[in-house]
Amino acid sequence: MIVAANLKTNFTRKETNEYLAELDAFVKAHNISQEVLVFPAPSCLDYNNTTVAVGTQNAYPAKEGAFTGELGLVHLEEFGIQTILIGHSERRHILGETQEFLVEKFNFYKELGFKIVYCVGEPLEKREAGKEVMMEYIDAQYRGIDTTYENLIIAYEPVWAIGTGLTPTLSDIEEVHKALKEKSSAPLLYGGSVKVTNAKEVMALNNVDGVLVGSAALYSEHFCTMINYAEEL
Ligand code: PGA
Repeated sequence: MIVAANLKTNFTRKETNEYLAELDAFVKAHNISQEVLVFPAPSCLDYNNTTVAVGTQNAYPAKEGAFTGELGLVHLEEFGIQTILIGHSERRHILGETQEFLVEKFNFYKELGFKIVYCVGEPLEKREAGKEVMMEYIDAQYRGIDTTYENLIIAYEPVWAIGTGLTPTLSDIEEVHKALKEKSSAPLLYGGSVKVTNAKEVMALNNVDGVLVGSAALYSEHFCTMINYAEEL
């Protein structure tokens, strides 16, 4: 199982380091053998001596250069970061990243051998329009993406479930995951309002290889409980 935390625009550098230390202590104390992955805010990337893998929430497809406000490869290399989140719905919808741009980013970091957590998921109106429309929408998010890339992890995150407390039913999650596994055999995470109260049953579903957690991961003890559930499964 892969248990990942997307910290988004939360925690200072000091808080992030404390958070990672808490997770590290938990992983060691409980002999956790699952993959634990944390995506801190960009200014909180730092040297990491913990057992927890750290990835970046974003980076520009360039080593360095004139890209105001962006991180380049040099900023990731400084801290040995080799994992990147690409295609998160907040970057697609709030920051306006297009599929073409995401493909450029994907290819740039793929060439460098990065582990890529690539997010897909439909907004509410697409889900409500029926399965065919919804799957067409998700299909378009696979366009240009090398689904056979060996260091690929896919995260299915319905946009309407992110940060809302709403989730698809367990059988809906299982159905979409089954369809997505046919597109790529890469590990497939579920994300969108995963909490301690539902994490175990979500991770127990067929074709669910882990979870990507936002809000609930901000409480280290909650996130540790989810890590423990993954270990138990
Ligand atoms: P959430 O966020 O757990 O707060 O719904 C998940 C995500 O955006 O990855």
